[in-house]
Amino acid sequence: MQMRDTGLGFSPITIGLHWLIAAAVSVMVWLGLSAGQMDAGAAKAELIAMHSTLGTVLFVVAAYRLWARLTSYHPLPVGTPNPIEVMISRSVAVALALAPVLLPLDGWLAMSAAGDVVRLPGGIALPAIVGLNPEVEYVARLLHKIGAYAFLAGLALHIFGAMKNHFVLKNDTLKRMLGKRVEL
Ligand code: HEM
Ligand code: HEM
Repeated sequence: MQMRDTGLGFSPITIGLHWLIAAAVSVMVWLGLSAGQMDAGAAKAELIAMHSTLGTVLFVVAAYRLWARLTSYHPLPVGTPNPIEVMISRSVAVALALAPVLLPLDGWLAMSAAGDVVRLPGGIALPAIVGLNPEVEYVARLLHKIGAYAFLAGLALHIFGAMKNHFVLKNDTLKRMLGKRVEL
């Protein structure tokens, strides 16, 4: 099996991880936004516990994906797109690959500073990065919120680009990300 991306196509691992991470991030955003709207209490704590535990798993997968993305050749774009659009879409994709690595680290910082414990699947507690500190908690939560909303804006642009390629330009960009072999 092709393990790494080449200039001619994405590896099946990249394609599988792309959709797995997309699904996991959607659940994360839903859990985060739902928790954000609730008053403090047991139900909110449970949602945040799910959000943070899933986030630790996502962190490991996304860190691998980011490393693979930065150390592999990137497939050439399908068709003959405008170079500015290629630069923008690739920068957005790198930012999207970075977000599920940075947001969990910041979430861990926020929870540590609030005196909350982040648990791995299986219940193992992660050590706190910092001690109880309301100022650090405030800044880390604010950065988490700004980061999450910036991520959603980038994602909207990314999905718009994918839809434009598919429905307006009618090329195989989306189909390639769904596993179709495209001759360049
Ligand atoms: C419905 C949601 C999504 C659609 C339709 C979509 C579509 C696509 C398509 C068509 C490509 C291939 C672009 C090319 O050929 O150059 C791509 C690449 C990429 N997408 Fe998405 N995407 C979605 C969600 C996401 C999410 C949630 C993330 C990040 C968390 C993401 C991160 C990336 C990255 C990093 C690449 C570059 C390839 C790679 O290195 O993995 N995408 N996406
Ligand atoms: C890809 C990873 C992640 C995404 C996309 C994400 C997204 C979000 C979003 C959208 C919110 C709601 C922001 C708001 O409107 O207030 C949120 C809140 C939050 N997230 Fe995350 N998050 C991620 C990872 C993590 C991780 C790993 C942790 C902990 C280790 C964490 C801890 C928190 C906390 C404590 C809140 C605040 C809930 C509240 O009290 O209002 N997040 N997250």
